Amino acid sequence: LEEKDVVEPAQCPYAASTTHSLDAIPGPTNWPLVGSLFQLLRKGGLTRQHEALVDYHKKFGKIFRMKLGSFESVHIGAPCLLEALYRKEGSYPQRLEIKPWKAYRDLRDEAYGLLILEGEDWQRVRSAFQHKLMKPTEVVKLDRKINEVLVDFVGRVGKVNVNGKIEDLYFELNKWSFETICLVLYDKRFGLLQEEVNKEAMNFITAVKTMMSTFGMMMVTPVELHKSLNTKTWQDHTAAWDRIFSTAKVCIDRRLKRNAARAPDDLIGDILHHSSLSKKELYAAITELQIGGVETTANSMLWAIFNLSRNPGAQKRLLDEIRETVPPEQDPCGEHIKSMPYLKACLKESMRLSPSVPFTSRTLDKDTVLGDYAIPKGTVLMINSHALGSNEEYFDDGKQFKPERWLRENNNINPFAHVPFGIGKRMCIGRRLAELQLQLAMCWLVRDYEIVATDNEPLDMKRLHIQLFWIQ
Ligand code: HEM
Repeated sequence: LEEKDVVEPAQCPYAASTTHSLDAIPGPTNWPLVGSLFQLLRKGGLTRQHEALVDYHKKFGKIFRMKLGSFESVHIGAPCLLEALYRKEGSYPQRLEIKPWKAYRDLRDEAYGLLILEGEDWQRVRSAFQHKLMKPTEVVKLDRKINEVLVDFVGRVGKVNVNGKIEDLYFELNKWSFETICLVLYDKRFGLLQEEVNKEAMNFITAVKTMMSTFGMMMVTPVELHKSLNTKTWQDHTAAWDRIFSTAKVCIDRRLKRNAARAPDDLIGDILHHSSLSKKELYAAITELQIGGVETTANSMLWAIFNLSRNPGAQKRLLDEIRETVPPEQDPCGEHIKSMPYLKACLKESMRLSPSVPFTSRTLDKDTVLGDYAIPKGTVLMINSHALGSNEEYFDDGKQFKPERWLRENNNINPFAHVPFGIGKRMCIGRRLAELQLQLAMCWLVRDYEIVATDNEPLDMKRLHIQLFWIQ
């Protein structure tokens, strides 16, 4: 949510005149040493924590407090509390620290990027990218590059399906989002959608996967210990980062050398050339943009495909809109998307029902009153976007996929109830790019294919991947 999205302050029943202390916040039983870890495990473990959090909100209300081992957090799942947080936000909001990443950068004397930076340094780096990446009129210029990859993706879908089924759609989508973000950031095709993927591309994608799968362990056990014992996790993590940085640096250096001859849609080229950031800062910032933009986008696309497959009526209406807006001899482009409200509503609805990042966090940098409670500086707040989006109090018939809910005049949906990209100054900087990429992908796919559900069984949703914004 950005400043302009907030029309006027909603009446928040949680802005109380008398406040209680942190200890008064309800929550699951806090056992010595383990906190609520066993209860969470009984509820299905860490892969089902998003469901456990929804249950806890039902049981304890809009705000609850939970301890897992020594890690304590306060969970908020009500739009008015989020609005209160947003209005009290300081200049440099902070998320939970990702210590393993910092440890690697310190070891190799590399800089931090937007995912881990804090304070004034974060703001300086953020402002170097903010203007171009968050402005729709700038981001729309990227449609040609996004489409270049989509042509290959749609072609590949045609080739790899067996009787209409794709064996590992999620892997294909990850390759698509990886290829797109690399083209945008490095102006380089890695060839991930080709039949024979080249070695460099495979090395790069495996390094990102290894890095992502090794840092979770070091979020729950001290990274310093891993480092001093030189554990396998630490070795794999550092080796993966080494490979990521060495590939990214070569690509960024190449772009920096290409001085004058920049294409009009060379958004990142413009940022590289006009910012006052050091080379080291650029390496880290660009690399983290890449890391932030792969799984999140692939996962959102997977859910959009799933939701359209189970809602053929919505898919048909979307196809009608595509046919009315995009002439058959043209490719869908950014300009078409502007007049496709149903497409945008489909994506929004899919991200409400099935957000790819179910929560984000904030570490309070000052004592803050949220509703009935005075919460001290240093407290970690979890913003549960999944719990918000699935709450019937904020969305009528909330379990159903109903894109039209976003199109109704006076729909009364509280903007703070839908925050799949986070809120405020620290919200996702890739939001506009991701939205354009997903909207175009939906256009291409629905125009060329009918997406059919193979069954209508209820889905068992697991979070197997480690979320950057949470600990596992
Ligand atoms: C931060 C979601 C795509 C780069 C975030 C946050 C969320 C999020 C929830 C945390 C925001 C907060 O704490 O308030 C998503 C989703 C995406 C997506 C759901 C796709 C559908 C992207 C893309 C990029 C990207 C494509 C890169 C171009 C980042 C970065 C941050 C971030 C760098 C940290 C920003 C900062 O702290 O200043 N994202 N993201 N994301 N995202 Fe995304």
